[in-house]
Amino acid sequence: MFFITSFILALAATTAVSMPAPKERRDVRMARRSAGGAPIIGNTTAGAQLNASTVPFTSVTGSFAIPTFAVPAGDDPSDLYIASLLVDLGSVFCENGIIAGIEMGVDNGSQFIDAVWTSFPNASTNLFPSVSFAQGDNITVSIAMTNATSSTAVITNESTDETSTVAIETGPICSQAEVAWMIGSQIDDSGDIIPFVDFGTVNITASAETSSGPVDISNATIVTTVQNGTTIASASVEGDIVTIAFV
Ligand SMILES: *[C@@H]1O[C@H](CO)[C@@H](O)[C@H](O)[C@H]1NC(C)=O
Ligand SMILES: *[C@@H]1O[C@H](CO)[C@@H](O)[C@H](O)[C@H]1NC(C)=O
Ligand SMILES: *[C@@H]1O[C@H](CO)[C@@H](O)[C@H](O)[C@H]1NC(C)=O
Ligand SMILES: *[C@@H]1O[C@H](CO)[C@@H](O)[C@H](O)[C@H]1NC(C)=O
Ligand SMILES: *[C@@H]1O[C@H](CO)[C@@H](O)[C@H](O)[C@H]1NC(C)=O
Ligand SMILES: *[C@@H]1O[C@H](CO)[C@@H](O)[C@H](O)[C@H]1NC(C)=O
Ligand SMILES: *[C@@H]1O[C@H](CO)[C@@H](O)[C@H](O)[C@H]1NC(C)=O
Ligand SMILES: *[C@@H]1O[C@H](CO)[C@@H](O)[C@H](O)[C@H]1NC(C)=O
Ligand SMILES: *[C@@H]1O[C@H](CO)[C@@H](O)[C@H](O)[C@H]1NC(C)=O
Ligand SMILES: *[C@@H]1O[C@H](CO)[C@@H](O)[C@H](O)[C@H]1NC(C)=O
Repeated sequence: MFFITSFILALAATTAVSMPAPKERRDVRMARRSAGGAPIIGNTTAGAQLNASTVPFTSVTGSFAIPTFAVPAGDDPSDLYIASLLVDLGSVFCENGIIAGIEMGVDNGSQFIDAVWTSFPNASTNLFPSVSFAQGDNITVSIAMTNATSSTAVITNESTDETSTVAIETGPICSQAEVAWMIGSQIDDSGDIIPFVDFGTVNITASAETSSGPVDISNATIVTTVQNGTTIASASVEGDIVTIAFV
């Protein structure tokens, strides 16, 4: 199953910063311990985001086991629930950017997992060709710039070494391009946020590079998902591991 919706808008919305409500203090404390920037509160994403420094990023990579996921306890099992585990290059701060990863969900009781990528400003969701994944698969997803307007996105099943690669043409990706490791929600046709599927906890082994080499990501800014005053997903960074939890 495949949904042409715009989890795009989702990432862009993370730039909204607001003061955390008291019930989010625990997340904020975690964030302060591990992150360099003020935590970001969004309503559609959670994870870790790292701003560009003087040398622009050239690649971003995340490795994780696809988590078991389910309809959140107590919620209507006939509804649609989605969460996308994504790496990002530039989609928040640049006009042109790319996200790639796994979209997982449950629709009226049926589970689906798709490997997807999106470039901006096009914002269409595309499938990686010739791959399918299952819960528990260890995967690596990366986006690497080949030059200013062309990038390669690769998704690999670490268990079998099977790989799918796409070449992505974009407009120039700006030098302020951030990198991020995120869970993101999607927006339905009426503009409502599709609820997260319960994805438990995911540990992402995260890395990013500039032309000067690998970057320390332990200073990434924490993004927390808050909807209607309730924390839906939280995140922390410890070394090169980004942990994202469904709350
Ligand atoms: C999510 O946040 C964005 C940016 O603050 C806002 O425009 C949008 O209305 C919010 N969506 C919902 C469903 O709360
Ligand atoms: C982490 O971020 C803080 C605050 O922005 C900054 O002062 C510090 O130099 C950063 N550390 C690294 C290793 O980037
Ligand atoms: C990241 O960049 C944005 C946009 O320039 C800025 O608002 C934000 O403060 C920066 N965050 C950190 C942690 O430097
Ligand atoms: C949802 O699944 C049930 C049971 O399989 C089926 O009877 C029903 O028609 C499905 N609803 C939709 C909207 O597909
Ligand atoms: C956007 O991407 C879709 C799917 O890859 C493609 O068919 C379409 O031509 C693109 N649109 C533009 C304006 O590039
Ligand atoms: C990935 O590897 C696992 C373990 O070998 C396997 O069960 C699964 O089918 C593989 N997925 C794909 C898409 O090949
Ligand atoms: C960027 O790389 C792509 C893919 O290798 C190539 O087709 C394109 O011509 C290159 N563009 C520039 C400006 O070098
Ligand atoms: C995924 O990696 C873990 C840790 O290396 C390993 O225990 C597990 O068997 C792997 N899963 C698959 C499906 O290969
Ligand atoms: C994530 O890492 C933590 C710390 O190493 C570990 O306790 C936890 O079991 C891991 N969770 C998953 C889902 O792998
Ligand atoms: C948030 O509140 C609005 C308005 O009360 C409601 O329509 C929406 O379903 C709520 N969203 C969530 C995720 O609780």
